[in-house]
Amino acid sequence: MTALSVSTSSAASLRADALVVGVAKGPKGMLLAPGAEAVNEAFEGKLAEILGTLGATGAEGEAVKVASPAGLKAALVLAVGLGEAAEDGYELEALRRAGGVAARTLAGAKKAALALPAESAEQVEAVALGGLLGSYSYGTYKANGVGKEPVGELVVLTARKGSKDAKAAVERAAAIGEEMNRARDLVNAAPNDLTPKSFAAIAQAAGKEHGLKVEVLDEKALTKGGFGGLLGVGAGSANPPRLVKVAYTHPKAKASLAFVGKGITYDSGGISLKPAGHNETMKCDMAGAAAVFAAVVAAKRLGLAVNVTGWLALAENMPSGTATRPGDVLRMYGGKTVEVLNTDAEGRLVLADAIVKAGEDAPDVIVDVATLTGAMVLALGTRTFGVMANNDELRDNLHTLAGEVGEQSWPMPLPADLKKGMTDSTIADLANMGERMGGGLVAGLFLQEFVTEGTDWAHLDIAGPAFHESAPFGYTPKGGTASAVRTLVRFAEQTAANGKA
Ligand code: BES
Ligand code: MN
Ligand code: ZN
Repeated sequence: MTALSVSTSSAASLRADALVVGVAKGPKGMLLAPGAEAVNEAFEGKLAEILGTLGATGAEGEAVKVASPAGLKAALVLAVGLGEAAEDGYELEALRRAGGVAARTLAGAKKAALALPAESAEQVEAVALGGLLGSYSYGTYKANGVGKEPVGELVVLTARKGSKDAKAAVERAAAIGEEMNRARDLVNAAPNDLTPKSFAAIAQAAGKEHGLKVEVLDEKALTKGGFGGLLGVGAGSANPPRLVKVAYTHPKAKASLAFVGKGITYDSGGISLKPAGHNETMKCDMAGAAAVFAAVVAAKRLGLAVNVTGWLALAENMPSGTATRPGDVLRMYGGKTVEVLNTDAEGRLVLADAIVKAGEDAPDVIVDVATLTGAMVLALGTRTFGVMANNDELRDNLHTLAGEVGEQSWPMPLPADLKKGMTDSTIADLANMGERMGGGLVAGLFLQEFVTEGTDWAHLDIAGPAFHESAPFGYTPKGGTASAVRTLVRFAEQTAANGKA
């Protein structure tokens, strides 16, 4: 794991393998960003010119290397692009991405110092978080066990002389970034290894390590409790379902949040089997549960004054002689019946049980996170998640918070007219499928049926951004991304600060 620290030393005097500076697109061409002054001096003021000759333009994502002159204690200088030059402070997301590009480019180096524009504590945190997320590599199944060797140590340089808040900012980045990387590990794990049972065991071990209370309902307990959604989805699999509760409580908490995650460890579609080309990445279908778990642990590590309960709805969706059939009726936790018309609409079934269960504690807000529909990916693309809620203010708030922490999201409606197809079931209270058009919203409307009257609830459909299939960019690697973790943590922070949700 990459070690993070902060230093107020001059870039020139710092011993490291590489020094990272920022370049940006100015009105008159490429320019050096604040933080690069001492490095530029060592180049006798010619750093911008040299980088320009080497092709640097300042564009986001750019990484240009140049050998250091005498006078620097690092052998290499790396310039990373920040995009458009900012007159009054660089945006946090530009800094996170630049930190990410630097860490990815310097994989294998022992120590790198980041001389990026990090003046405020927030900017220090952004550079550190981007660096930590960019250094991520998943190597569990590689011969060397680590995959691409990450950069060993990242030192964030800041001009904030002697300020304690810079140190606190780096510690925050470590808490959030390490938990995000934990979520990524869970998503990237092969589905033959990450089953509902092994996921629950990992949650128990990690929960114990961080002093969180973790309770696991196994298939026996689920049967006894009447969790028809989880049991119905898991019925076809040799790996039975689990419902995991992870509780973080704070003695001064004035509000409580419940986060519910879809945890389908593999989604084959079940009897309504997915065709080839649609199932290769379906190990990512537990990304919601991974995000929820990571967010609860991060809330604990940050010591937030709010109670946060995470619910992981874990099952494997497989076809077999014992699998749920299209046409079966399930009795969900709480008593509602659902006619399963398509076994590939399984996420809403496991979530329904967990949402009802979460509602029993009467939390102030329930937020569920799920790789729920292909329709949401068609609507918003692969980098943006959809936000739905039974309360417009809550929906817009989550969308705003997501933007603040660098997550792309968009508010989506829950139009009541789209419910019709689902409530048309001739034999059950609901069908698990309805209108084909607006499928992402239909899924949201299905979930809404299981929210206790009077409880605020929001739904994040992360089917697009949860798993990144194209080339890495910024701090986003291929594979699991930890989508929604930062939004959940930010929401918990806001709730703690306000003393209410
Ligand atoms: N896990 C999928 C949704 C998904 C698609 C996640 C692409 C990530 C990337 C979900 O269980 C599913 O299969 N949804 C169906 C619902 C349909 C049968 C109503 C879908 O979106 O096609
Ligand atoms: Mn499915
Ligand atoms: Zn699914």
